[in-house]
Amino acid sequence: MKIFNDINSLRKILSRKQPIAFVPTMGNLHAGHLALIKQAKQLTDNVVASIFVNRLQFLPHEDFNRYPRTLDDDCRLLSELNVNIVFAPNEEILFPTKQEFLLALPSVADTLEGEFRPGFFRGVATIVLKLFNIIQPDIAVFGKKDYQQLYIVQEMVRQLNLPVEIIAGETIRAHDGLALSSRNQYLNAAQRSEACQLYQILLQIKREIISGHQDFLSLQENATQHLTGRGWKVDYIRIQKRSSLMPAQTGDDDLVILAAAWLDKTRLIDNLEL
Ligand code: PAF
Repeated sequence: MKIFNDINSLRKILSRKQPIAFVPTMGNLHAGHLALIKQAKQLTDNVVASIFVNRLQFLPHEDFNRYPRTLDDDCRLLSELNVNIVFAPNEEILFPTKQEFLLALPSVADTLEGEFRPGFFRGVATIVLKLFNIIQPDIAVFGKKDYQQLYIVQEMVRQLNLPVEIIAGETIRAHDGLALSSRNQYLNAAQRSEACQLYQILLQIKREIISGHQDFLSLQENATQHLTGRGWKVDYIRIQKRSSLMPAQTGDDDLVILAAAWLDKTRLIDNLEL
């Protein structure tokens, strides 16, 4: 496995490889990332993983500085999965000067996560586009855990005619249902055992919809109250259309339930498709 920091030597080696599957990450790899890597490996032997904690997608008060950086462990895990190439640039490589060109995103990027983390998707889309331009992958794998991110990347590829196929990876969960995330390690023991309630409430909403409950607003409200009563601070619990990520109406059947909520200082997100 080769680890690259600079763009020129990465491009040189990639020019001889095809097709290329790409898995972008911010490092601190867990079983969720590794599942995406394995999915990529099934499509081609030439898998590139990137590790870069992208400043552009953090708000000033967010956890950019304390975001876990574990490059040696990450590289060991990637080499165990026979990843050929790791791109782990430092900030000077990706931002040699201030990143002044930033993508303007459609209004869906201002909803859900974007409502609570303004500018987040602009930062994500801009770095993903830069990474696509550097690596020029044929395929890129993104996890459904970040459902709205996956949607926005798919829209970016479609609307900007980028020559890359986006593949979605299923969310990997702990034994109690908690979606794996690097941020789970911020949780103390009591919070960790409470954390699975986020997924439990999504399951509960799903069961109610399947059994015929169509008043989506009251389902959202009840779920919010339930978590709030257990000590969570809920940013949103929303039932949306999968095809547009807009609020679902009675009778819609392509649904996804998306949620974001805080346990003390840790913000968790999750979603469930119907
Ligand atoms: O999902 C992530 O880890 C990040 O948002 C990504 C796609 C690597 C961009 O920084």
